[in-house]
Amino acid sequence: MTAQVLLLPGDGIGVEVVAQARKVLEALASDGVVMSLSEAPFGGAGYDAAGKPLPDETLAQARASDAILLGAVGGPQYEALPRELRPERGLLGIRAELDLFANLRPAILYPQLAASSSLRPEIVSGLDIMIVRELTGGIYFGQPRGIAERETASGTERYGYNTMVYGESEIRRIAKVAVEIASKRGGKLCSVDKANVLEVSELWREGVSAVAAERVQLSHMYVDNAAMQLVRDPKQFDTIVTGNLFGDILSDCAAMLTGSIGMLPSASLNEGGVGLYEPVHGSAPDIAGKGLANPLATILSAAMMLRYSLDEQEAADRIERAVQAVLEQGLRTPDIASGGKSISTQAMGDAVVAAL
Ligand SMILES: NC(=O)c1ccc[n+]([C@@H]2O[C@H](COP(=O)([O-])OP(=O)(O)OC[C@H]3O[C@@H](n4cnc5c(N)ncnc54)[C@H](O)[C@@H]3O)[C@@H](O)[C@H]2O)c1
Repeated sequence: MTAQVLLLPGDGIGVEVVAQARKVLEALASDGVVMSLSEAPFGGAGYDAAGKPLPDETLAQARASDAILLGAVGGPQYEALPRELRPERGLLGIRAELDLFANLRPAILYPQLAASSSLRPEIVSGLDIMIVRELTGGIYFGQPRGIAERETASGTERYGYNTMVYGESEIRRIAKVAVEIASKRGGKLCSVDKANVLEVSELWREGVSAVAAERVQLSHMYVDNAAMQLVRDPKQFDTIVTGNLFGDILSDCAAMLTGSIGMLPSASLNEGGVGLYEPVHGSAPDIAGKGLANPLATILSAAMMLRYSLDEQEAADRIERAVQAVLEQGLRTPDIASGGKSISTQAMGDAVVAAL
């Protein structure tokens, strides 16, 4: 069956970088990878086209797709809109509608870019970590939550509270995804929690251990130590699995080890293997429309899409090798050029297509 791929360019540089990824996918399609590409308005562009960030037609198309490749959403012209019409609402909406509970954030440092990391090259060169973050549970969604008032000895005061909660089924399903991924990579999985303080982490640890059983080499680490180890010796990690809050922080920390936000892909998957693939960066209004954006994060997101939702391993490898090759040729967009010679968004897209 032909895989249905929906492209949602969104706003700002999203439009420019998705156009480059589209060229790469079209080149692979003409080389025999069976997929059909369509495009729909989303985010601010969704609001402009249909009065809301996730138009009904776009959602219907997303539901009928095997995978979605998203650019980025947002822009200053949408900031005055009521909250429910803002572009970011479209993102939250599509994640919830498709129940995308597993967020995959690789942090790869290409040896050619080792100088752009904030850590010394010998500590980070060749880094290749995958962080699997639970995305739809934990303290960001737990009930009860709120701000209320209470009596104290010195009078009334307000207090804020949230609940960190994970059910066994939620732990099991994210652990399954992580074990699956770790077993296809280096076979090492590190589960990050705070089990020395939190009961929810005790249950997390138990659940992950049960799923991992003998399938991968499993270790457990407290989140404070994990943060420290990520900057001390990041190459000790292969695959990390963690909850929503800890994953939010650790994935940004790991991302920065690689130096440029323009190089970082991500994926969010549901239980059926349908995924939303997107670069980690936003719509970058400061450089939009100028041909300055780095399209590699989006092109690498397309590679993840081929690997995780379309089961096209060879095509995914081809994209990743092509990206390596263009870096090896010394081609750079301004964000990774360290002030040296650079090429445009479009020229980078063309170079990847030529290197496939
Ligand atoms: N997933 C998303 O769609 C997403 C994520 C983050 C922010 N946003 C939205 O994007 C808008 C801008 O947010 P921001 O400025 O905080 O974050 P941003 O990621 O858009 O930009 C941060 C900085 O990184 C640079 N940058 C980002 N991507 C780049 C690329 N591919 N190549 C070269 N440079 C790149 C930008 O020029 C900017 O200086 C806001 O409206 C925000 O809400 C959307």
